[in-house]
Amino acid sequence: MLYVGVDLGTSAVKLLLMDGEGKIRKIVSREYPIFYPNPGWSQQNPEDWFTQTMEGIKELTADVDKSEVKGISFGGQMHGLVILDKDDNVIRPAILWNDGRTYEECDYLNNVIGKEKLSEYTANISFTGFTAPKILWVKNKEPENFARISKIMLPKDYIAYKLTGVHCTDVSDASGMLLLDVKNRRWSGEMCDICGISVEMLPKLFESYECVGTVKEDIAQQLGISPSVKVAAGAGDNAAAAVGTGTVGEGMCNISLGTSGTIFISSKKFGVDKFNALHAFAHADGHYHLMGCMLSAASCNKWWMEDIIGTENYAGEQKEIQKLGENHVYFLPYLMGERSPHNNPNARGTFIGMTMDTTRADMTQAVLEGVAFALRDSLEVAKSLGIHLERTKICGGGAKSPLWKRMIANILNLKVDVIESEEGPALGGAMLAAVACGEYESVEAAAEKIVRIVDTVEPEPELVAKYEERYRKFKEIYPACRPMFDILRN
Ligand code: XUL
Repeated sequence: MLYVGVDLGTSAVKLLLMDGEGKIRKIVSREYPIFYPNPGWSQQNPEDWFTQTMEGIKELTADVDKSEVKGISFGGQMHGLVILDKDDNVIRPAILWNDGRTYEECDYLNNVIGKEKLSEYTANISFTGFTAPKILWVKNKEPENFARISKIMLPKDYIAYKLTGVHCTDVSDASGMLLLDVKNRRWSGEMCDICGISVEMLPKLFESYECVGTVKEDIAQQLGISPSVKVAAGAGDNAAAAVGTGTVGEGMCNISLGTSGTIFISSKKFGVDKFNALHAFAHADGHYHLMGCMLSAASCNKWWMEDIIGTENYAGEQKEIQKLGENHVYFLPYLMGERSPHNNPNARGTFIGMTMDTTRADMTQAVLEGVAFALRDSLEVAKSLGIHLERTKICGGGAKSPLWKRMIANILNLKVDVIESEEGPALGGAMLAAVACGEYESVEAAAEKIVRIVDTVEPEPELVAKYEERYRKFKEIYPACRPMFDILRN
């Protein structure tokens, strides 16, 4: 039996073929463009996602007996607004998770409707990237598009819809819409009223590991697979990554260093962050999780390396970094504004502390450390809620760097468990498909069988102490810059 995991990311779709034993047979990846029509805005064309996913599946399964393919599922970039009209045409480009245009709508939701009510209805407050404020933005700024809305969905759900014809989503991804009553895993009628939409416009809700349907005849033909191939609902990419790293059940942690950076804490019990800094979402294993999300993580390093200093030699640049814990340069990684914990779309990337002896390596180091310090900000919120963590898994492109993993272990003072494959969401997607097809009896059982820890990066006491002192300084920089960010916006 073979299972396809589709990680519908922001820069590319990554597809992974897994066998019933959990062995990864092949991985392919296809890119698509992202558009920034205004500063702080980001959009993509859902049709590009679908075209590249179809081409990717063909390439992925080119050399195997296609009759062995039994299931497909997803990890998808979260929160993106996809709207279709009554004839299933995409009405406008999808507005992505890191788009900051909805600050007025967020202000309305958080301050006029009020955080308490939002929290009561959904367990969360509004952040610019979430889906509900985007719906309000379309209502306010593009009323002609709003009037045409027949179906609302999230990015990966568009792919599931095109494959099966079923308008579906899963509870983990739906949690990030600010339309779901997360605790009870059902749509919130109150939130639909607030956004001026009907619940019929929203997808049917499934658990991530449930089968939503089978592939349509014409799709099966195009892909050369059987029309009996099952499609499972899948999960938001962070929940899927958590499945792929075995972050399921009670009190486990995963850090994802992708375009975004997240710290994901699984829990069997529903819980809300009373400070509203961490998201309280449903998990793909049938339970819940808390999550802090920074909008730019590995993307800060990519920006610095490729766009600014003009190199793709990541390892070479990192080899020059010798003095951990002693850098006098700091970097605020808020290139797209910031979500957790500051909730400030106007925040901006900032270097501070340079002197005439500052080197290129110091600046590169500051970028990597800035991302780790910002993750620590979310960890601090978790700690203040009484959550105690000793270790974390890690995945995403940034997890390929041994230096960055060492920084994270020491800045967060956590043991970092490295797993055999850091293909978080794509592997998680394939695992969810396998569960939906009955290969494993639960997500936890699949994780136990499939995920293997191959190394642990231990915090080093002396370095932890040095970084503790640096973190205290880092923490002072954002509050000092905040008024400047407002001034710069205007
Ligand atoms: C999570 C979030 C990001 C995206 C990235 O809340 O917005 O991690 O899911 O694809």
